[in-house]
Amino acid sequence: MRIIESLEEMREAAAELAAGRRSSGLVPTMGALHEGHLSLMRRSAGENGVTVVSIFVNPAQFSPEEDYDSYPRTWEEDLAAAKSAGVDIVFHPGAEQMYPPRSQTSVMVHGLTRGLCGMSRGQGHFRGVTTVVAKLFNLVRPTRAYFGQKDAQQAVVIQRMVLDLNFPVEIIVCPIVREDDGLAMSSRNRNLPPQYRPRALALRRALELGRKLIREGETDPYLLANAMGQRILMDSEIELDYLEIVSPETLEAVEKLDDLALIAGAVKIGGVRLIDNILVGPDGPWED
Ligand code: PAF
Repeated sequence: MRIIESLEEMREAAAELAAGRRSSGLVPTMGALHEGHLSLMRRSAGENGVTVVSIFVNPAQFSPEEDYDSYPRTWEEDLAAAKSAGVDIVFHPGAEQMYPPRSQTSVMVHGLTRGLCGMSRGQGHFRGVTTVVAKLFNLVRPTRAYFGQKDAQQAVVIQRMVLDLNFPVEIIVCPIVREDDGLAMSSRNRNLPPQYRPRALALRRALELGRKLIREGETDPYLLANAMGQRILMDSEIELDYLEIVSPETLEAVEKLDDLALIAGAVKIGGVRLIDNILVGPDGPWED
């Protein structure tokens, strides 16, 4: 497995791949790799000649109050995990290379970033994500890029950016990978104080309650969101950031559960922000 730390070397490697007409898969990450990331890497390794994983904790997507400094960094473990998942190249640029002094350009997807995490973290979060992902696409020139459904809004926003800016890359969104008890895998789970770990399931349980109520025939998003929100707020130590029922394509609130909908939420537990979501409609799916 090759480790590339300079933009120049990454550009050259990408040019060689293109010249050899070899397909490449990019898995953009911020490191602290877990099974969710590894599932994307394995899928890419099965579908492409070469798999590139970027590991870059992107300062531009954190607001000053957020956890950039405490975001987990586990470089040695990440390298071993990437190698075991069949990765060919780890691209690990420095922040000063990705954002040289006097940078003035960013990429912004407007409407889709207004709600959900855009509302609670600010649209600047997604501006940081789309800017860095656009840069990665330009540097790596992947045939395909892999993202997890856990960050459902991010996946929709990136698909929009790819369409709007004509990036020649296919976006593949892969299912959420969960711990045995159902907690969605996330790099931030590592920062959960152990006494809060059991509580981290609150959002998952609320989403399951929503699915159960829909299965029993409830179609009113307001009643559903209310029942799910109350379930979360039963625990006074959990902060509910948002819980919304939206169209999986437009991310706008749905008026009635008569088609597939995305139920997405974010909570803060023990100082750690966790997100999760399910896709569900009047005819299911009833499992994920
Ligand atoms: O999902 C993430 O880990 C990040 O938002 C991404 C896509 C790697 C961009 O920094």
